[in-house]
Amino acid sequence: MKCIRSEIIGHGHFLPEKVLTNDDLAQMVDTNDEWISTRTGIKSRHVAAEKEYTSDLAFNAAQMALKTAGISAAELDAVVLATVTPDNTTPATSAKIAARLGVKAGTPAFDISAACSGFVYALTMADNMIRLGQAKTALVVCAETLSKITDWTDRNTCVLFGDGAGAVVLRAAEGEGTAADTGVLATKVYADGSQFDNLLTNGGVSTTQTAGHIWMNGKEVFKYAINSLAQGAEDVMSMCGVKAEDLDWLIPHQANIRIISGVGQKLGLPEEKVVVTVDHHGNTSAASIPLALSECMEAGKIKKGDLVVFNAMGAGFTWGGALVRI
Ligand code: ACO
Repeated sequence: MKCIRSEIIGHGHFLPEKVLTNDDLAQMVDTNDEWISTRTGIKSRHVAAEKEYTSDLAFNAAQMALKTAGISAAELDAVVLATVTPDNTTPATSAKIAARLGVKAGTPAFDISAACSGFVYALTMADNMIRLGQAKTALVVCAETLSKITDWTDRNTCVLFGDGAGAVVLRAAEGEGTAADTGVLATKVYADGSQFDNLLTNGGVSTTQTAGHIWMNGKEVFKYAINSLAQGAEDVMSMCGVKAEDLDWLIPHQANIRIISGVGQKLGLPEEKVVVTVDHHGNTSAASIPLALSECMEAGKIKKGDLVVFNAMGAGFTWGGALVRI
């Protein structure tokens, strides 16, 4: 049956210039390259400059996405930004970047706070707007400056995170309603607030009037992550009658190589189909999936027609998946 699909017509990413290696971190806290590499798979991460904000990263990724889409910002009908590190508590950072990009006044713009699941949530919301006919062309941008909420004296967390941004431009197209269509084929998002205290910032506007620093119960996050990431992928595949062997790529949230490998194995996917960028990005929360997607598309690794699952899990806990034909 004919239906409206959201096609990805543009992709973009941006990384701050400064790179922090594991050896650099070993000068700051009691750690070493061997510990970080074997436990997390991370070798280096990018870190924003003092006056480089989430909106700057988002703006640059969005500009690249508009350029690869071959459209101007004036053609956008919606701007959705996922972040846990907004420039200001209010207004939404999406409104700031929309104005800077040249989006028409009156175009809806809003931020989504779903931590590392931010891209899957933002993609779901933008896709729903397109399928409902509320937007024809939408920008989904995810950007984080986690370095600003990292406790640089805490070796348990400071080795894990990085800064960066990724974006996609979606546009409505007619599909046949089958898994052979191009575009977003299915999305599903979840949350379980009983896990609130296992991964959070130890502060906030209403509680401490500060942003706080990231704190987590690493073992609990690890246990929950593999099952929830697998669920995110399995549910969207079963919604479309797709099997793991039909996939060209899995782009999981880039938190930790052991989680990524565990999910790939649980889904029965060969290693070469699982995208890994955590080694040079660290965990960039909401940005990690679109950043990885855009890097792979720029390199010609992921191509038009490829069938891809995005799956993510993060603070909340939140998690989810999306099945997309590029
Ligand atoms: N360098 C050296 N030693 C360290 C470091 C470090 N950076 N960090 C912790 N240690 C020490 C600990 O102090 C501890 O020492 P002790 O035994 O003397 O007390 C020892 O290493 C083991 O610590 P654990 O916390 O038990 O280490 P674990 O094997 O669980 O690995 C890790 C920690 C990597 C965080 C793991 O729990 C994990 O991968 N969790 C998943 C969480 C994650 O990736 N979160 C990202 C955000 S959430 C998300 O994006 C989904």
